[in-house]
Amino acid sequence: MDKKVVELLNAQVNKEFFSAYLYLGISKFFTQENLMGFASWYRVQAEEEQEHAMKIYNYLLEQDQDVTLDPINAVDIKLKDALDAAKEADKHERYITDSINKIMDAAVAAKDYRTQLFLNWFISEQEEEENNSKEMIAKIEMVGKDKKSLYLLDKEVGGRQG
Ligand code: FEO
Repeated sequence: MDKKVVELLNAQVNKEFFSAYLYLGISKFFTQENLMGFASWYRVQAEEEQEHAMKIYNYLLEQDQDVTLDPINAVDIKLKDALDAAKEADKHERYITDSINKIMDAAVAAKDYRTQLFLNWFISEQEEEENNSKEMIAKIEMVGKDKKSLYLLDKEVGGRQG
């Protein structure tokens, strides 16, 4: 496999684990705010991110490539409220989309058709991830400062299973 493609995929394993860590940080914020529905939603998201990391990890090993398990960055976020948290998640997903696109660029340049096929799943997934984060922002904005509505929204988002 092309060296750059392998390097970028390895870096993406780390970024996906960091995503899990970041979502755990957001989930923790909501737990401390007693918004347990949101806390659960972001915890489910953290689990999903670990699955993303493992998908790439497995792919690299299946291609007889090494997987580097680098340190995962600390989560350094100071959140004020639910909207702030949702915006943090949205910003992160856009960064991840950009990162996936760059791996695709490298795979195209290397004529690595197998990796392109593999990455197609992530391209679609990122569309879903961005839609989810945009929707979350919109819902929280709708609620505004109304505590009762926030309580109801917390109940709604807490229903997420996977
Ligand atoms: Fe793994 Fe949220 O992208």
